Amino acid sequence: MVYTSIGDSIMQNAVLFYFSGTGNTWWVSRNLVRRLQEKGIAARAYSVEQIAHEEACRLLRDGDAAGFGYPIYGSDLPQPMKDFIRCLPVFEGKKCFVFCTQWLWSGDGARTGADFLKPKGFDVQWGEHFLMPNNVCIGAIPLPFTNDRSKLDPVLARASRKINRFADNIVSGRSYLWGFNLVSYLLGCMQRVPFRRMQQHLRDNMRVDPDRCTRCGYCAVLCPSGNLVFDGESLRTRNRCVYCMRCYNFCPESAITHRGRPHNLRRGVPYRGPVKAFDPEILRPTHTPNSVL
Ligand SMILES: Cc1cc2nc3c(=O)[nH]c(=O)nc-3n(C[C@H](O)[C@H](O)[C@H](O)COP(=O)(O)O)c2cc1C
Ligand code: SF4
Ligand code: SF4
Repeated sequence: MVYTSIGDSIMQNAVLFYFSGTGNTWWVSRNLVRRLQEKGIAARAYSVEQIAHEEACRLLRDGDAAGFGYPIYGSDLPQPMKDFIRCLPVFEGKKCFVFCTQWLWSGDGARTGADFLKPKGFDVQWGEHFLMPNNVCIGAIPLPFTNDRSKLDPVLARASRKINRFADNIVSGRSYLWGFNLVSYLLGCMQRVPFRRMQQHLRDNMRVDPDRCTRCGYCAVLCPSGNLVFDGESLRTRNRCVYCMRCYNFCPESAITHRGRPHNLRRGVPYRGPVKAFDPEILRPTHTPNSVL
């Protein structure tokens, strides 16, 4: 057994909880855990959609360090990650790392996670932002996106190197907090404040194009918020969307509409995760927890 010093204590194991809409945060979590394991730490990662509350609390109680990872939505955390943290009891002084994945920029994406973790007693020692491919491919916001492996691979290679550096900092016990400063905070607020105000109006933007839909029910299986309900005949929505993009990107017919607009098939299939083998069902409760790693 390798014992790693973290500050004045010894780290033997770490547990990481993540939310991932379309695979980027899953990929970063998986690689971070692998790197920690290579360094002798018994690390494991769990999708917050899969882990039962009591089990998460037990793992946090027993773990030497905790980690939290999520995609950035308008410089903010996704609702499932906020809900997961808010339900936790207080773990006074538990060392913790927090990271976000983002396409371009968030300002203070990891620090914002710390805002939720600190009231729960977590001692946030490490924070990082990982640039990953854009997962938004809706007509209303025509951002560039790609599923082309030759374009994704260099992005993943850069992220991989950063993951290794982040893991090395955790293992060494050296605190590293990216974006935890006033300028990043103010820049983050410029995006987060209007985004938070707007959120309630985004909850019912995803609908179904009946002409394309084959009523397979797959999107309802994937939806992390229970927004999509399939009764065997038709789909209805419940005003609970957390805009993770999973249904829109993974519907085999591209039949999910955003604000009434179906996906423009001329732009190719929407973003379907960082690796070809990625299957979003592995994030859902129907899969055995930790089966992703
Ligand atoms: C609603 C929404 C808002 C987003 N906002 C930002 C943002 O403010 N900055 C950014 O760089 N990327 C943004 N993105 C891109 C995602 O953060 C990025 O692609 C992330 O890695 C997706 O992770 P996932 O595949 O684990 O869901 C946004 C994506 C969504 C769906
Ligand atoms: S996944 Fe697509 S085709 Fe299947 S039910 Fe949902 S919208 Fe229809
Ligand atoms: S409706 Fe689609 S985008 Fe909204 S939370 Fe469910 S799967 Fe995610």
